[in-house]
Amino acid sequence: MQNNPPSPLPTAPQTLWRRIVTRPWVLTFFVAVVVGLALLVGLAIGLIVVNENGHGDGAKASDPRIPRANLGYATYRGTLVGDRRDVAQYLGMRYARAPVGDLRFRKPLDPEVRQGREVKADAFGPACLGISAPYPNDAQDEDCLYANVWAPANATVESKLPVWLFIQGGGYTVNANANWNGIQVVQHSGNSIIFVSFNYRVGLWGFLASERVRADGDLNVGLLDQRLMMRWVRRHIAQFGGDPDHVVIHGASAGAGSVALHLLAHGGNATDPESGEKLFAGAVGESVFFPAQPFLDELEWQFDLVLQRTGCDDKNKEAIACLRGLSTEVLQAANFPAPFPGGPDMPIDLFFWTPCIDGELLRDLPYTLFEKGQFINVPVMMGGTTDEGTVFAVNAATQDEMVKFLQSNYPRLSEFNTSAILERYPQLDSLPNHNIWFPSTARAYGETTFICPGAHILNSYVRHLNSSKAWGYRYDVHDDDLIAAGLGVPHVFSSWAILGPESESGPMGGPRSYYTYNAGVVPIMMDYWISFVRTLDPSRTRYMDTPVWQSWGQADRRLLVQTGNVSIELMPDDQGDRCAFWGTLAPIMRQ
Ligand SMILES: *[C@@H]1O[C@H](CO)[C@@H](O)[C@H](O)[C@H]1NC(C)=O
Ligand SMILES: *[C@@H]1O[C@H](CO)[C@@H](O)[C@H](O)[C@H]1NC(C)=O
Ligand SMILES: *[C@@H]1O[C@H](CO)[C@@H](O)[C@H](O)[C@H]1NC(C)=O
Ligand SMILES: *[C@@H]1O[C@H](CO)[C@@H](O)[C@H](O)[C@H]1NC(C)=O
Ligand SMILES: *[C@@H]1O[C@H](CO)[C@@H](O)[C@H](O)[C@H]1NC(C)=O
Repeated sequence: MQNNPPSPLPTAPQTLWRRIVTRPWVLTFFVAVVVGLALLVGLAIGLIVVNENGHGDGAKASDPRIPRANLGYATYRGTLVGDRRDVAQYLGMRYARAPVGDLRFRKPLDPEVRQGREVKADAFGPACLGISAPYPNDAQDEDCLYANVWAPANATVESKLPVWLFIQGGGYTVNANANWNGIQVVQHSGNSIIFVSFNYRVGLWGFLASERVRADGDLNVGLLDQRLMMRWVRRHIAQFGGDPDHVVIHGASAGAGSVALHLLAHGGNATDPESGEKLFAGAVGESVFFPAQPFLDELEWQFDLVLQRTGCDDKNKEAIACLRGLSTEVLQAANFPAPFPGGPDMPIDLFFWTPCIDGELLRDLPYTLFEKGQFINVPVMMGGTTDEGTVFAVNAATQDEMVKFLQSNYPRLSEFNTSAILERYPQLDSLPNHNIWFPSTARAYGETTFICPGAHILNSYVRHLNSSKAWGYRYDVHDDDLIAAGLGVPHVFSSWAILGPESESGPMGGPRSYYTYNAGVVPIMMDYWISFVRTLDPSRTRYMDTPVWQSWGQADRRLLVQTGNVSIELMPDDQGDRCAFWGTLAPIMRQ
């Protein structure tokens, strides 16, 4: 017996196999059964493809041309887009559990597992509820934590492409760019990068602040959504062809403000305490937004106001439980601004809710932390447009109106401070369609809220790190319509050049000039950005014949982008002086 090796298979299957291969009709029958079963399974899979809301469609899931990404908790089915169908687009993928019911005012959680189902990712998810928006609302909802990915169609799990994670703006109170797409940047990169965007909670839903929220929930959950998104990218982006160790975050406006806050998070610790990982390799701030970002104890009045507006101020009710028990409609009806205490008038509507200094995620005021060197050391690009303040400033006819506007938005400014401001912002040449104190008001607001914060970050990188990897820019591309309207080169006018004029999904696309006399600036801006995303240096793969973008350095050098001309300029001394002045006011203004 020892000479006979044990049979590798039991006899019955061997017999079955022999019967199949030796008798043609059995073989035919067997093949027919197998093929039939496969068809049935395929059809069944096709029929259970659903979208995030659970609605099925009849498409076959087995078509190999359909891009899919298996994220473990769900398999998402994208579509091929772009004129050459060379970009795989995934829209409306849930990156966190719906932040509703008991999860309101809490840090976001990973999504629930949706086993055995393929989920359609062919439409943007709802944006998060914005300030003063009506509800119900076709485009916005409380269940809003959705992400979008654009990847080269030929990318694979082995591709390890650089990742551009875009943090949209909207003043921390709306999702301003929820439906922008990354098709143009992926194509323009020669299909060598991945672009990602997402929604995060804003307004009352994202930034309700009080010790009572801290005790039974979390503060700054809108920023925590962004951090969960960064961890999601680390964990899942390889499935789309991306490199989790090479993620560049780029924010516009409040997204740029958010980038600044992530540079400062947990005292500027590069290691995220939640995951033990480094979340990003480079950071870009496009029009860095620093509103007043008060300490937690300075926001209790705002929380009390919400309790009053919702009837949750009843002493017999537990406040947070009461707020969590309200319908979306009732709570959204309380999501509107009021004057800040000490402010003479309403602040800019959009800028009522903001991140707060909570002592943990944000240990101190942003200006102070940069000043002290408590920030993450990664390559950074920061800058903005020439006329950041024009779309926000009140159309002031008098100095008093200018002062009132500044104090309404920064209510801690004293009379003493505002006279110092007026000294530095004398009356400027008038602008079309505007009263005589508008240009000074716009310049003061634009410099204090956007331009000087960006310069302060760059100065901090140079002062503390002697960093040669800190780049500044001024975007000065003129659009005739905007100039004629007296708006100069307004806030985030650069976005259509950086992301492409067609990135704003919808029939209109970006401003007309980007299709005509300003078309030439699009590949220039896009290439500097793509170069930074790919190599952490904006010049390495810049557009032909454009200058090397020299770093900020001791001389405050910045790239100057104009219609038909790109050059390097130094930040003018008078602007540097005004920024230094705003730096002394920043602690008072809570920036
Ligand atoms: C994908 O296609 C682009 C051209 O569109 C090419 O440059 C790139 O090498 C391709 N990548 C892979 C992984 O095949
Ligand atoms: C940074 O955070 C990590 C993770 O929480 C921690 O282990 C480390 O000690 C922190 N580093 C500093 C300098 O605080
Ligand atoms: C701003 O006003 C406060 C209170 O009057 C004063 O202490 C402070 O020195 C002022 N700062 C500047 C830069 O004017
Ligand atoms: C700062 O860096 C430059 C070049 O990057 C170098 O020439 C200079 O010596 C450095 N200065 C200090 C104080 O380290
Ligand atoms: C481009 O900008 C530089 C620096 O401001 C300037 O010297 C030059 O004349 C400009 N060229 C054109 C064609 O406008």
